[in-house]
Amino acid sequence: MSKLVRIFSYAMPYKGRMSLMLACMLAGILLSLLPVAVSADFVNVLTGEGEALSKLPPWLGGEVLNGIISSGDTSLMITLLIGSMVFVALVRAGLSLLQAYLFGKVGAMLIFDVRQQLFDHLQQLSLKFYHRRETGELMSRILNDVGTIQSMLTSTFLGFITNIFAVVVFFWALLHMNWRLTLFSMLILPPMILNVRLFNFRIRRVSRLGMEKMAEVSSYLQESFAGIRVVQSFTGEERRKKGFRGLARQLVSLGVRAVMLGSLQGQVAALVVTAGTAGILWYGARLQSQGLMDWGSVFAFFVLLMMFIGPMTSLIQINVQIQGALAAFDRIFELLDRKPEVTERRDAVDFEGVQRAITFRDLNFAYSDEGGLVLRDISFTVGRGETVALVGPSGAGKSTMVNLLCRFYDPKSGRVEIDGRDLRAFTLGSLRRNIGIVDQETFLFNDSLLENIRFGRDVGLAEVTAATRAAYIHDYIEALPEGYDTVAGERGVSLSGGQRQRIAIARAILKNPPILILDEATSSLDSQSERYIQLALGKLMADRTAFIIAHRLSTVQQADLVLVLDQGRLVQSGTYGELLAADGIFRRLHEEQFRGSNGPAVD
Ligand SMILES: Nc1ncnc2c1ncn2[C@@H]1O[C@H](COP(=O)(O)OP(=O)(O)OP(=O)(O)O)[C@@H](O)[C@H]1O
Ligand SMILES: [Mg+2]
Repeated sequence: MSKLVRIFSYAMPYKGRMSLMLACMLAGILLSLLPVAVSADFVNVLTGEGEALSKLPPWLGGEVLNGIISSGDTSLMITLLIGSMVFVALVRAGLSLLQAYLFGKVGAMLIFDVRQQLFDHLQQLSLKFYHRRETGELMSRILNDVGTIQSMLTSTFLGFITNIFAVVVFFWALLHMNWRLTLFSMLILPPMILNVRLFNFRIRRVSRLGMEKMAEVSSYLQESFAGIRVVQSFTGEERRKKGFRGLARQLVSLGVRAVMLGSLQGQVAALVVTAGTAGILWYGARLQSQGLMDWGSVFAFFVLLMMFIGPMTSLIQINVQIQGALAAFDRIFELLDRKPEVTERRDAVDFEGVQRAITFRDLNFAYSDEGGLVLRDISFTVGRGETVALVGPSGAGKSTMVNLLCRFYDPKSGRVEIDGRDLRAFTLGSLRRNIGIVDQETFLFNDSLLENIRFGRDVGLAEVTAATRAAYIHDYIEALPEGYDTVAGERGVSLSGGQRQRIAIARAILKNPPILILDEATSSLDSQSERYIQLALGKLMADRTAFIIAHRLSTVQQADLVLVLDQGRLVQSGTYGELLAADGIFRRLHEEQFRGSNGPAVD
């Protein structure tokens, strides 16, 4: 029930327009009765059953028609019939246009609202959520599933009300014409219901499979495009093509099955209706011969019955439509109800920069509840303005540590403190605004280099160029035909790794944060630019608390503190000189690299 309330809350902003839509539909139904009634009278004039009374109530001109029927004036009757048909057709066309406009407008806005809400929500979810999701699958939900909300609220819901109304009105009109024939014709309902029951379960299963397959295809596509370099470098195109063909073929067979099931159901329904009408015609003729019904009524009864069957069928099916829509809602609500793992305390305060020190205290961390600890018992302190270097083998947990400092994740136990306060005491936005990151991989958005560098910050070109100069990338950008307006392209494919990294450094310089994180910041630079970058970073790191992660140990000589991580544990700490003097993993790593610089290292 609360789910229904929630679903309809999306329609609330549009209740005015939806009511108008409903009014159009209801008026259309009432109007459709007029030509039927007039044509019944017309048939009675033709068959000369003059004593028959008009099917229209007096306030709709029934009295006038009664006069014409008894006079037997066929040409006047024809004029009236045509007139009423044209009138009703015109008014209904107008109503339908209005209805279609409202339908399109409300539908599009509903989709807009839900997509917007979903996107806003997803942007806030923590990284943990994204590790477990496939991008393509998320995209499929935002693009495809959202459509079902719209159809649920517009066609299904409004359709339900209008169909109930139509069924009641038409049933009343049928009864009004002849109750015996009406009851007799209701015999057609049980086989119709049975037919729906028989097929719908199968149809629903096939369409659910179709939706799931579609999400799978979407994932596959996203992956194929994002990973095109890997695919081509390993000449895996044929394998990927075959994979796609396999998925697409499953969609084909599901599509065919859905169409065949639908058509089969339609054919059975048509047979039931045909058999039914034959029976009704036979019974109607009997009633007429017994003088219980006039031919006009038999004729009108038929037309009305056909009008009755459509909405009746929809009502029989409504359950299925609702069930299908609810399944889609569940998928969407499941996303909307997901809370970010990293949350802000209600009493969180703005972070104003480091005054004294950053401390990791007895920190343990795991990426998932099932997985093992990635960081164990990490404790250390770094003073304001100092530089800490994190070194250690690949997978040791270096990047994870700086992720915790940015609160992309929260520790399992223990804490990260700044000036003695838990990171969780600060608002997320203020904390992250004060941290600049140059990452292992630089993501560039499909936007100009200028926008990529200032990334939403309101700074002028002069400041940007000052930053790019400091990051030794200005000359390169300016030499481009379109300079700072050059579009970086998806994933910045048009820039080299080193150039991308320098863009990231420029971004960090521009942000001017008190805390700086450099994750392998100089890894994709040649030694010439590395020296320049070292100079730039040296300037950048002055008076900032900096965390640098580096594989090349020569780059951490200047650090105030070197932390050596191995398999999630802090195994050594000290200055470069101290660590070199001590016997331990740092010296071994150092010796390996030293050997490596004289010749190829042997694994
Ligand atoms: N999103 C994640 N989900 C689960 N496990 C992860 C995730 N990211 C990293 N890990 C695991 O955590 C461990 C530490 O990873 P981390 O990225 O911190 O290593 P690193 O020291 O930065 O290595 P590298 O020098 O290669 O960058 C690894 O064993 C890795 O498999
Ligand atoms: Mg790393």
